Amino acid sequence: MNEDIEFDEYCDPYNPRKIKYDDILAASRRIAGAVIRTPCTKAHMAERLGMDLYLKQEFMQYTGSFKERGVRNTLLLLSDEQKKFGVITATTGNHGIAMSYHASQLGIPCVIVAPVYAPLNKVTKCEQMGAKLILYGTNIWESKLHAMSIKKEKRMTYINGYDHPNVIEGHGSIGIEIIEQVPAVDAIVVPCGGGSLLCGIAISAKHLKPDTEIYGVETDKTCSMVESLRKNERIKMDMPSTIADGIAVPMVGVNTFYNIKGLVDKMIVVKEDWVARAIMHLVEEERFVVEGAGSVTIAAVMAGLFPNLKGKKVVCVISGGNIDTTILARALERGMAAEGRLVKFKVTVNDRPGGMADMCALLAGIGVTLRDLVPERAWVKGDVFSVELKVIVETRGWEHTKELIDQIKKHYKEYYFQDMNEHPEKTVGNRRGPCLAPNPVCMQK
Ligand SMILES: Cc1ncc(COP(=O)(O)O)c(C=O)c1O
Repeated sequence: MNEDIEFDEYCDPYNPRKIKYDDILAASRRIAGAVIRTPCTKAHMAERLGMDLYLKQEFMQYTGSFKERGVRNTLLLLSDEQKKFGVITATTGNHGIAMSYHASQLGIPCVIVAPVYAPLNKVTKCEQMGAKLILYGTNIWESKLHAMSIKKEKRMTYINGYDHPNVIEGHGSIGIEIIEQVPAVDAIVVPCGGGSLLCGIAISAKHLKPDTEIYGVETDKTCSMVESLRKNERIKMDMPSTIADGIAVPMVGVNTFYNIKGLVDKMIVVKEDWVARAIMHLVEEERFVVEGAGSVTIAAVMAGLFPNLKGKKVVCVISGGNIDTTILARALERGMAAEGRLVKFKVTVNDRPGGMADMCALLAGIGVTLRDLVPERAWVKGDVFSVELKVIVETRGWEHTKELIDQIKKHYKEYYFQDMNEHPEKTVGNRRGPCLAPNPVCMQK
């Protein structure tokens, strides 16, 4: 194994490292001043969600995510020799941006290897921050293998973004800050990819306030930690395309898995539809622009997966804000559709002059905004003087949509509304409490 090109001495499956609180505290002092002590303030959505809810705003870091903490700590601990030869990593995102920025601040040569399909907004930032970017491989494993061979050849240091012990220690500084900022916190909810954020926070927060409950959140497409905990070994999973690309890690870390077992109270799996809605609500209610991975904690709260935390003091970590504008636009649209504010329907109207205008007047009369209207004449059965309209409208929400449906039903004989049987709001808060069970893993049904 040790001769293997993939071997990373800091993340050795045969010798996992125990992460200690004292090293987290030292990291927190080491990086102070170079990373932002981010705000942790009461959420505007707290009352609506029935919790004394606080948001730890890590997306406010200079490069847009918490990843700066671990990277800065690791770079500062390198020997002079290591600093001279430089650092390298394989990444699809935030770790790469953070490493590029801090390496350039400290004058350390830096190489980022990313798969050719990595999110463009993220990898191009690495170059802008001063790193050398190499696009190689169709997935992160191929990129990592390539990075490892460069590391060997050029005597660089490989920094694993979710498993290097000094990275985990740096991320642990967030736990210290949370306990200082919200001393009476009952529970901390943390996004989980490779596990370094969750691991670092769990160790520091539990050390300072042992009764703090710690929850990790993955989506139904990125649940490698959940599956690994279930099987009690690190499982390698396929990662389909996901709105939460920051936490799409096929296999969790050696050190993170070793330290998380028995420490984290529960892992929660939330469906990706809720992530789009969380992104939308963070924009609308908090004025935060947050990426998918950064919003999974709020998504899980909104989905009603924490009935046990009603009325409690809860901190959700909002871990990153590097979202592509096209993905943000799609997430907002999906969020609106999921909440009945963007509605698609078909209605057959009279095709004589004024027929379509009447339908538009009906919409205007109840304050519904017309987004799109496509008339269909050829593939319509029955009366040749009728036309089927495919309509997309904006409403104020479920109640308003119901008014629209009632009006269309009242005035027309043929109509069809998409997905109106599903009313997601009804599920919130009424679900049986999945987090009350002793099982360490909770899947959203
Ligand atoms: C925004 C964001 N949130 C959460 C995570 C998960 O962090 P970890 O891999 O340490 O679990 C990442 C990882 O890159 C991330 O970019």
